[in-house]
Amino acid sequence: MGQSKEVIIIGAGISGLGMAIQLKRLLGHDNFTIYEKSDNIGGTWWHNRYPGCACDIPSHFYSYSFALKYDWTTMFPGRDELHQYFFSVAEKYDILPHCRFNAMCVSLVWDNLRSLWNCTFQDTISGETFKKEAPVVVSAIGTLDRPYIPNIEGSESFQGEVFHSARWNDSFKPEGKKIVVLGNGASATQFVPELVKDVGPQGSVTQFVRSAHWWTKRVSNSFITCHRPIRDASLSRSTQGNPKYSERFKLVLKHVPFAAKVYRIILAWQLERVFSSFYMNSNGAAMRQKIHDATYSFIESDAPPQYHEILKPRYEPGCKRRVNTASYMVCLHSPQMILTDNSVVKVGPDYVETKSGDRHVADAIIYATGFQTQKWLFPMQIKGINGQDLHQVWDAASGAEAYKGTVVSGFPNFFILYGPNAATGQHSVIFHSECQINYSCRLLRPVLKGKADSIMVKLEAQQQDLSWVHDKLKHLVFNSGCQSWILFQEFVDFAPFPLRNVNGLLSHVFITSIIVLETINCISNPMVTI
Ligand SMILES: Cc1cc2nc3c(=O)[nH]c(=O)nc-3n(C[C@H](O)[C@H](O)[C@H](O)COP(=O)(O)OP(=O)(O)OC[C@H]3O[C@@H](n4cnc5c(N)ncnc54)[C@H](O)[C@@H]3O)c2cc1C
Ligand SMILES: NC(=O)c1ccc[n+]([C@@H]2O[C@H](COP(=O)([O-])OP(=O)(O)OC[C@H]3O[C@@H](n4cnc5c(N)ncnc54)[C@H](OP(=O)(O)O)[C@@H]3O)[C@@H](O)[C@H]2O)c1
Repeated sequence: MGQSKEVIIIGAGISGLGMAIQLKRLLGHDNFTIYEKSDNIGGTWWHNRYPGCACDIPSHFYSYSFALKYDWTTMFPGRDELHQYFFSVAEKYDILPHCRFNAMCVSLVWDNLRSLWNCTFQDTISGETFKKEAPVVVSAIGTLDRPYIPNIEGSESFQGEVFHSARWNDSFKPEGKKIVVLGNGASATQFVPELVKDVGPQGSVTQFVRSAHWWTKRVSNSFITCHRPIRDASLSRSTQGNPKYSERFKLVLKHVPFAAKVYRIILAWQLERVFSSFYMNSNGAAMRQKIHDATYSFIESDAPPQYHEILKPRYEPGCKRRVNTASYMVCLHSPQMILTDNSVVKVGPDYVETKSGDRHVADAIIYATGFQTQKWLFPMQIKGINGQDLHQVWDAASGAEAYKGTVVSGFPNFFILYGPNAATGQHSVIFHSECQINYSCRLLRPVLKGKADSIMVKLEAQQQDLSWVHDKLKHLVFNSGCQSWILFQEFVDFAPFPLRNVNGLLSHVFITSIIVLETINCISNPMVTI
């Protein structure tokens, strides 16, 4: 019996934690370390702490399948409750002693002779670098982790407070302030209604919108939330389109065999059905028309008339992940709120200036401008067999590519969670990460059990998989023309299949045909063990 092989996991978000737990649960493997650049677990649910931050996938499905929680307070709980849940799961599986915090991975280099990854980390407090080696590395660094702040002329001259929605300044006091918000995605849609309440009569919120979203009103029969019969039978309603679970419902989930599992499956299925609206066929078009009509009537009934044209999206529903809300449209009626589609071109010491030359006084600027998503696994440097650089390989291929979004030819014993083509347009990212985690564990079994030094996907299998994915994507709504973090805009003009990292498809495949998929994997034997 050889020595137990160490697995290095980079990132302690839900993917990294899930990987660690499944190594223990599925493979009985306890030799792993999670390196995390921040000082806590939870990733997204640690970094994002803006007012109103909450999940938009029902909590009973936006949670681990192996750690069901029966007493979620609401269908869309806030960031604190989510973080507490992930922390308690980490405690339950004794993961915290395996975590090395304040350690950022900067490079990974494969040593072919020793079948080892040489990993370099930087201590984020002292700035010092240190090295570790391990036969297996799992990247769980997420996609929505590096805030994007646009480069606007004069930004450095601004004298007020400036921060990004994902790095909220906890000591910021909005009362009486004139606040400029750039961006209107899911994050801004959650915190703007809270800010409007908090600025008080002397303050204001001016929000700059670049393009509209397919807002979904949180009501009982929306696609995203629960079906009316389930809610009416089991849940008491809150006023914010966020049903509060009754004590009786929690008891039922806890004590009636399979009740929680069945509820979870129903929620998953409801979300899964949304995928049909992504197809560019007549059924998909009919579903999109319904979404179109629902969003337009939501805007017309709930938002002030002067903003209707700014708010109405002009691209196909679903091309960007839809944003659901109960409070955003209503908050636009506040006298404290100004919405404009003018773009900010310049920043001065206490103002922002628009393209049309208007100046808006600003005490604070909050960037809700999303994340740097165009380069996967960046800025880590990753060198595989023969020193080939992963970023160069992907640049040459006009975008990131991985077999099942998880493994890359030429990079043995290296696994990517929430990798290319692996995000989802309508589903729980946790569900999808779990699929990738389980898949990675299956692949890792021979390596960790000492039957092989390393495992790597064959190039032909990767190419076949990619051409299958890109062929499917051609017929989905993501190809219909919109701008979103899920698309690789810079490649649109010349790549044969421009949608290199579009979301949705893989989760669909996993949920609808996971067993078939795994069977195909076994038959075609896409892996090579070395
Ligand atoms: C505000 C917000 C709300 C969201 N709501 C939902 C939702 O309702 N439903 C849904 O399905 N998805 C949602 N998402 C997407 C969300 O990102 C995923 O659901 C999920 O949390 C991703 O988990 P992860 O572990 O893969 O990545 P992350 O949560 O991003 O975690 C990555 C971790 O890796 C660490 N890290 C990064 N780089 C390095 C490095 N080089 N070295 C060491 N550590 C590193 C980071 O600090 C972080 O802790 C939301 C995203 C945001 C931003
Ligand atoms: N649970 C939830 O409800 C929830 C909450 C937050 C986030 N999320 C997840 O996280 C993802 C990211 O959400 P996000 O809202 O942080 O980012 P986002 O969806 O990428 O939105 C960023 C917004 O900023 C705009 N923008 C970018 N640069 C701008 C500029 N220079 N001037 C004006 N506007 C600018 C974008 O406009 P364009 O649209 O024109 O690019 C977009 O509206 C979401 O897609 C979702 O998956 C989920």
